[in-house]
Amino acid sequence: PVLVVDFGAQYAQLIARRVREAQVYSEIVPHTASTADILAKEPRAIILSGGPSSVYAEGAPGLDPALLEAGVPVLGLCYGFQSMAAALDGTVAPTGVREYGATRLEAVDSASELLREQDTEQNVWMSHGDSVTAAPTGFRVVATSSASPVAAFEHPEKHLYGVQWHPEVGHSDRGQEVLENFLYRGAGITPEWTTGSVIEEQVERIRTQIGEGTAICALSGGVDSAVAAALVQKAIGDRLTCVYVDHGLMRLNESEQIEKAFGESTGGAKLIVVDAEEQFLSALAGVTDPEKKRKIIGREFIRTFERAQADILRERGVIDAAGHAEAKAFLVQGTLYPDVVESGGGEGAANIKSHHNVGGLPEDLSFELVEPLRALFKDEVRAVGSELGLPDGIVWRQPFPGPGLGIRIIGEVTKDRLDVLRRADAIAREEMTAAGLDREIWQCPVVLLADVRSVGVQGDGRTYGHPIVLRPVTSDDAMTADWAKLPYEVLGRISTRITNEVAEINRVTLDVTSKPPGTIEWE
Ligand code: XMP
Repeated sequence: PVLVVDFGAQYAQLIARRVREAQVYSEIVPHTASTADILAKEPRAIILSGGPSSVYAEGAPGLDPALLEAGVPVLGLCYGFQSMAAALDGTVAPTGVREYGATRLEAVDSASELLREQDTEQNVWMSHGDSVTAAPTGFRVVATSSASPVAAFEHPEKHLYGVQWHPEVGHSDRGQEVLENFLYRGAGITPEWTTGSVIEEQVERIRTQIGEGTAICALSGGVDSAVAAALVQKAIGDRLTCVYVDHGLMRLNESEQIEKAFGESTGGAKLIVVDAEEQFLSALAGVTDPEKKRKIIGREFIRTFERAQADILRERGVIDAAGHAEAKAFLVQGTLYPDVVESGGGEGAANIKSHHNVGGLPEDLSFELVEPLRALFKDEVRAVGSELGLPDGIVWRQPFPGPGLGIRIIGEVTKDRLDVLRRADAIAREEMTAAGLDREIWQCPVVLLADVRSVGVQGDGRTYGHPIVLRPVTSDDAMTADWAKLPYEVLGRISTRITNEVAEINRVTLDVTSKPPGTIEWE
């Protein structure tokens, strides 16, 4: 892989994505990884990310000069560029002038390897206080700016390169080309990491991992578990069984749709649908605390799932009547790369988010995990899904939380309240789809304030009904979000229809809070 050394959280993921857009596989490693650990991964190239510190600040993450002498091509960006200069015999100093935002590059050397055939002047995105004032011995300065006497340098014989700006952000004119020049010319890598090659590679890996064993996949209806299931199905065929738990907290007709879409999307994999509505609703009776609800839903999920698993194994004769398994059981999960990175990049062990996917798996679960999407970002998963022929409805499905509408009813969750929310939610989604907004917004929770009532008037009569909240958001990764500025006409139609068609609701409100401080879901 190409390794991106993370010196500051905002940058590394973006760089990794840009490298992948150049069709080269990349992974992120923390700056605390030792040179030995980094080299043990046999990187074909290394990119040092930007970061918030000054290289001379106390406790600033350092760069081991040995990493620059290992013969692996290295590209330093911003902080990474400065730390390269500092680790060799260059000079980094505060010049008194800071460059933030769009900056004009001058004297771009269009004969250099890194900036080959680029305009001698161009706009790039900078964000730095310190500057490299002298390049290390043997390095050629290949661009300058008014505040950066050394805005880029290179030493092609040693395969070492660096730029002061952020080529990974869209505001840098020729940024992607800088990365590609480094990867293709500087490191001599051939671009061949494509959706098709990902599928081939993963299918092969799954075959090796599962061997002659059987696997089950906890299907949620979302894109991640669907793509994971399709990959495993391609690898081991009917030795895969999918399990979908209908907990009664899904949206209108959603379970039927998921079942139907499943038939269209996998080449005949088996699906077991467990109707667990009563079990979940009776467990939730009387509970109003959000965390309690989440824990109960998680627990009931596991119980249902374990029962289904035992049934499958017994049926296959893998488990005897006393419950002893004769063979290893595999559990397929749609864990994504950001989940892995967020939990510290650990190998092997299940991480918090994958537990979260099925509501939390117990420690002593006797499964070995199969996570074919562990290396992918969401948009890459969508591309794989399309390539595998999954229907658009699944590939572009908006996120929906595992605990479902259970965390969108503020107050006790009951069947009646769920039905009210389901009807209101269906109208909101119908109108947003009709307005063509589905891909524009990340998701739009519809929340029922079940313990709040307000006075209204309809026809000539007084009403005393419940408010619902529309929570449309835009987001890239759900870590942060902004409230979506839906057109007034769409909001108006949703409001009119809900108050007309759902008798229990007499007020529709809009949540205009970003995340932070609000979260996307209300509970
Ligand atoms: P919050 O509310 O934390 O949500 O801003 C961030 C994203 O995660 C989804 N979400 C969940 N997904 N199980 C899930 O599979 C959960 O328990 C869960 N809670 C929140 C939420 O819909 C949003 O996309």
